[in-house]
Amino acid sequence: MGAASHLADQRFGNRGAGQLLPSASGPEPGEETNNLLAQPPTTTEPPADNVIRTSSSQLFCCKSIDKLISEAEDPARRLKKTLGPWSLTALGIGAIIGSGIFVLTGTAAAGEYFQAPSILHAQVLDLIVNFLRGGGTAQVLMHGRPPAGPSIAVSFFLVALACSFAGLCYAELASMIPIAGSAYTYSYATLGEIFAWIIGWDLILEYVVSNVVVAVGFSAYTKAQLESFGLHLPDQWSTPVWETGRWTGSYFNMPAFVIIFILTVLLVRGVRESAEANNVMVAIKIGAILIFLVVGGALVNPLNWHPFAPSGFGGVITGGAIVFFTYIGFDSVSTAAEEARNPQRDLPIGIIGSLIVCTTLYVGVSIVLLGMMKYTTFVSGKAAQAPVAYALQVLGASRWSRSIIVIGALTGMISSLLVFQYGQARIWYAMSRDRLFPKLFSKVHAKFKTPHYSTWIAGFAVGIPAGIFAISDAADLSNIGTLFAFVLVSLGVIILRRTQPDRKRMFKVPLVPLFPLISIVLCGGLMTGLTVITWLRFVIWLALGLLIYIFYSRHRSEFGKK
Ligand code: ALA
Repeated sequence: MGAASHLADQRFGNRGAGQLLPSASGPEPGEETNNLLAQPPTTTEPPADNVIRTSSSQLFCCKSIDKLISEAEDPARRLKKTLGPWSLTALGIGAIIGSGIFVLTGTAAAGEYFQAPSILHAQVLDLIVNFLRGGGTAQVLMHGRPPAGPSIAVSFFLVALACSFAGLCYAELASMIPIAGSAYTYSYATLGEIFAWIIGWDLILEYVVSNVVVAVGFSAYTKAQLESFGLHLPDQWSTPVWETGRWTGSYFNMPAFVIIFILTVLLVRGVRESAEANNVMVAIKIGAILIFLVVGGALVNPLNWHPFAPSGFGGVITGGAIVFFTYIGFDSVSTAAEEARNPQRDLPIGIIGSLIVCTTLYVGVSIVLLGMMKYTTFVSGKAAQAPVAYALQVLGASRWSRSIIVIGALTGMISSLLVFQYGQARIWYAMSRDRLFPKLFSKVHAKFKTPHYSTWIAGFAVGIPAGIFAISDAADLSNIGTLFAFVLVSLGVIILRRTQPDRKRMFKVPLVPLFPLISIVLCGGLMTGLTVITWLRFVIWLALGLLIYIFYSRHRSEFGKK
């Protein structure tokens, strides 16, 4: 996006500066106004470096969508366009179905009881409600998380509904601003530089944390499976070095690091190659889930579905805040905007299509799993760590069906890792093109036409922590980061409908502003279902980002240069 001034010159040379500058007679229909705060441009004369300011304050300056698009076409930074609708849908499914459905379904249904109640682990909503009701919070501290039981299937459905409102908003913006960078880019075009920075920094958190969690899960799952074949990986080289606040004596979690390293090499070599590998992995994991539905379905005892909702609607909601993690990823389809052949048409297909497929599979898996065993089974131990594999084993499913499902789960994790690594690199890349990060991050490989530096940076940003930490208790950070991005994207749709009503949209959210507002309320509601410690960590991360912005990025941005 934001490029060096010689790039700007080149662009104006290509397109003619007049196309990118506000006309003296005011904007033409469909022309950029891009002015969130309805402040007039501070200058009528274009500055020397052709920067168009939309606000007198740098923090609220928005990028011109036309300019974003023309910058993306710059040959030095142009990405290869290879992805069609199927690949984009597969990209979404690849990201969405990771470790979550195989790991979280059991614990979300069984609930959680804290041995040492602490305000840090209380849910924000619970605290607020209890405080308003009784003026105190003691009650909340004793609660833990109530079990959803089989009604976790309803949680899956409701979370999908919340995500689909946000998904529609992503689809509209992606079809309108087909540029890498996803919510970061949309915020830059609608809300202003400071919001773009916050959301870009927030997206990095989402992608890094969720992939560290999945990579560590992948390592544990692989180790357990190899052991069942009599192959023992040495603990010191295959378990986290730091877990639940203490050193474990391990040296490095090699499988977690190695899988990220291999995926990084694949991503550097080419997007088409990566997408093809992803398509195959998606087919395998969908096949494995379908086999689970058939094999597990035959082992269902309907009595296990009673009581269906042991904690009523409260259990459904708190279960929803947990299983939200399983849906994270559909937004990453929008990071592929610059590599899509026909982004305006195919991005909405990819986003909405992948959500529909995954919701159907998730609801099916939760109904079958909670019919196979009583929800209370999954409260701790092996049943909590790998509920799907556990239920199949205990109920005596054949070895071949278990093996296929395990392979499907591992493949699912790999493709989720792949797409998140891909998306993360595109965020680093987009922020670097806007000069908010060093220029190196947006360099494109001469032969492979991929952003190789940012891909390697993303690889090490995830691979090294994954080799050291087990941060499962920090996994909720990716939930809060994603939900925050959803809120801003939904807000972005409402703003752009007002500021640029005539700009071409291949896909339009119905009933604006109602649908984006529903998205904001539902995502905000899910955020209040997260714990106090998650909010604290999130605020600390954002504060760290703001320091970088204030001392570094602000001065380098095109709006920061006088
Ligand atoms: N949605 C991804 C998963 O469930 C992050 O693993």
